[in-house]
Amino acid sequence: MSIEENVRARYSEGAKQRQHALCCPVEYQSELLKMLPQEIVDKDYGCGDPSRYVREGDIVLDLGSGGGKVCYMAAQIVGPAGHVHGVDMTDDMLALARKYQSEMAVKMGHNRVTFHKGHIQNLAFDPQAAAKYVAENPIADAGALAVYESWKAQQQRTAPLIGGDSISLVISNCVLNLVDRADRAQMLREIYRVLKPGGRVAISDIVSDEYVPQDLQDDPQLWSGCISGAFQEEEFLQAFTDAGFMQVAYDKWNEAPWRVVKGIEFRAITLIAAKPMAVEQDVKALMYLGPYKRIEDDFGNCFVRGRRLTVSSTAYQTLLNSDLRDQFVGFDLQAEQTADNGGIAIGQTPAVLATKKTTAENSASAKKCCG
Ligand SMILES: C[S@@+](CC[C@H](N)C(=O)[O-])C[C@H]1O[C@@H](n2cnc3c(N)ncnc32)[C@H](O)[C@@H]1O
Repeated sequence: MSIEENVRARYSEGAKQRQHALCCPVEYQSELLKMLPQEIVDKDYGCGDPSRYVREGDIVLDLGSGGGKVCYMAAQIVGPAGHVHGVDMTDDMLALARKYQSEMAVKMGHNRVTFHKGHIQNLAFDPQAAAKYVAENPIADAGALAVYESWKAQQQRTAPLIGGDSISLVISNCVLNLVDRADRAQMLREIYRVLKPGGRVAISDIVSDEYVPQDLQDDPQLWSGCISGAFQEEEFLQAFTDAGFMQVAYDKWNEAPWRVVKGIEFRAITLIAAKPMAVEQDVKALMYLGPYKRIEDDFGNCFVRGRRLTVSSTAYQTLLNSDLRDQFVGFDLQAEQTADNGGIAIGQTPAVLATKKTTAENSASAKKCCG
């Protein structure tokens, strides 16, 4: 049995009957649980609460949406202007999530959630379209297989399951560790592809303090139980950085391990990150409010607490759109120069202020002061 077949079989069972061994205690936002059917609350196989990162109006994608709990929680936050997409590869999980879709639509006033069958390592591929194609064009020989491969490549290009630059927030709850290691680089590229510039990521998952040895990785129960597929804690951050994300951070870190196996600690964390904005270079300034003396962003800007620093528009937008935005105040220097009343608020986010005259450090030496 492949890793994927093993994972699918385990979560098929989990959709039918609650699996206590797969549950990791999580404190969800209780207000959002009130509306949910009890069966969905009970069949919870998450290890964190990425719904905390959802904002009104977001277009959310939940990777490995399972019974749909986090999707239905997120749907209450995004409101009428937003939407939530869940992707899962297990039919029984999709059936459980869809079972309550009409009931939830009535409770919320309209349907705000779509569940898709798919693989999170290839969000362009539509397995249902492929099944239809194969039913109509049986693959009996190598020639037919080549024709199918070419149809598949075109389907992914022209009618992807999840389109590029279409999502404002990718969330996931205890799923990335289940994906075959050979598919992980592609999975990260796919998360990047589907996000809009400036889009955010909030992934609750399990990480290990040491690399998991091969004998544990070969244990199918430990793998499907969200243990032996865990990313090593530093490797997980690096995987997102390598894929091009910025402001990669552990926003939640459970001090106490969830499990300890052969001396290796496995703990629940939530990683946040952002896809850089694609905006023209422009001059803006940011002030870091603390609590640290100084910090450095992924663009190489070093922020000293309480000191204004000029930054590119890309760095400015990326930071003020991220979940770290409450630690910064933004200043639009151009708008200040053209403003005639000298004290207007000009920002797109509440954190952006314009004062009459902003004196911001902009020398190269000021920028690389973190060393
Ligand atoms: C541990 S459960 C978590 C479910 C849900 N996120 C929750 O919080 O309850 C893992 C889910 O991910 C799905 N899954 C695992 N690997 C997947 C993959 N490669 N592509 C899509 N779904 C996957 C499983 O079918 C299962 O529903």
